[in-house]
Amino acid sequence: MTVPKKLFIKTYGCQMNVYDSERMAEALGGQGYVETQSPDDADMILLNTCHIREKAAEKVYSELGRFRGLKDARPDLKIGVAGCVAQAEGEEIMRRQPLVDLVVGPQSYHRLPELEAKTRNGDKALDTDFPPEDKFEVLKNRPKSKRAPAAFLTVQEGCDKFCAFCVVPYTRGAEVSRPADRILSEARDLVDRGVREITLLGQNVNAYHGAGATGDLTLAGLIWELDKIDGLERIRFTTSHPNDMGDDLIEAHGTCAKLMPYLHLPVQSGSDRILKRMNRSHTAESYLRLIERIRAARPDILMSGDFIVGFPEETEADFQATLDLIEEVNYGYAYSFKYSTRPGTPAAERPQVDDDVASERLQRLQALITRQQRSAQDAMVGREVSVLFEKPGRFDGQMVGKSDYLHAVHVKDSGAAVGDIARVKIVSSGANSLAGERV
Ligand code: 5AD
Ligand code: SF4
Repeated sequence: MTVPKKLFIKTYGCQMNVYDSERMAEALGGQGYVETQSPDDADMILLNTCHIREKAAEKVYSELGRFRGLKDARPDLKIGVAGCVAQAEGEEIMRRQPLVDLVVGPQSYHRLPELEAKTRNGDKALDTDFPPEDKFEVLKNRPKSKRAPAAFLTVQEGCDKFCAFCVVPYTRGAEVSRPADRILSEARDLVDRGVREITLLGQNVNAYHGAGATGDLTLAGLIWELDKIDGLERIRFTTSHPNDMGDDLIEAHGTCAKLMPYLHLPVQSGSDRILKRMNRSHTAESYLRLIERIRAARPDILMSGDFIVGFPEETEADFQATLDLIEEVNYGYAYSFKYSTRPGTPAAERPQVDDDVASERLQRLQALITRQQRSAQDAMVGREVSVLFEKPGRFDGQMVGKSDYLHAVHVKDSGAAVGDIARVKIVSSGANSLAGERV
């Protein structure tokens, strides 16, 4: 019997990387690898990286440096870099950090077994192509293990929007949708393995336009097909662009019971002048009217957004317009970032906002969204929600799950098992989660 080799994967960035890391672990499973939770006893370390903001890449280099001791002790240890930093930096990673044996871009994960074999022969392995074959098809032969009740499923990758600040169109490439039948069979397989909730992933997920049995399906069309799968109880999707929010998708929020009342819809800024410079091709007003229509379809929907502060040439008045928009929308969640210069993107060449000014604006914006988040969570007290239980809590009989609105909910003496969905009355609101009782 051969002893399994150990694989340690560290994942940075977005949910798509979480999904990709699972696929990479499965691909290397075929090469005799099992996952381990620590780099210390690993035979291969893979960093699945994110390039969306500057510090992420720097973190990768400093993380790599820390593996020197491990590699000195065990020269057989292989170190690989995957994800968007791998795509963007390519060979440069091996030049800057000679410890690295393998560099693989997001479109080439199905080639990992060959690349791994190459490193075992003592060679360096690099693949950052955008190959013609469908990586998902090659990756799908995975072991049929039981899965956690909430899973991600990538339906679309890449982006053609070219927002002036963003590297995604360069690192993930042009927008590509997977054919619907492949997504549906993957979804059925997940459900067979215990999954009750699927979050459809894509950098521009609502631009989905995959081939279906009778022509292309929109994202709403795909959601209605998923709706038919028995045992699948909840559907979510992320991340959407305001300009791709089709009428059928808005309507589905009111009519599809499995579609959860939560929508992540980034606007980035509330100033039309900045939105134009960001190449967002929507205005603050058109975004607000869109949210009105979504709320007309599903009045209790919780809205979530992304914001960038300190974009080049942002004035105090522009920033104030963003705060005004946030006040008007009233978000349930929001993610905010200080603008980070990405070489090669159009905004990198423009006059930058002073860093202290941007930091101070970010603080003000975060104070506002923290207040909104807090009051959206507190407003759940006294309400009945449905909870999908994901894991046991710290106390005997306690379970932790997610509500339809994506809040974490703790339930004492739940009498439930992982994977159960139950009606829960919310009794209190804590720092980062709710507590409730089964009804
Ligand atoms: N600087 C800061 N934030 C960025 N984002 C994308 N690119 C940048 C950048 N250069 C943010 C956007 C996007 C989220 C995933 O990351 O808000 O929606
Ligand atoms: Fe980047 Fe999103 Fe803009 Fe595409 S739509 S360029 S992924 S911020």
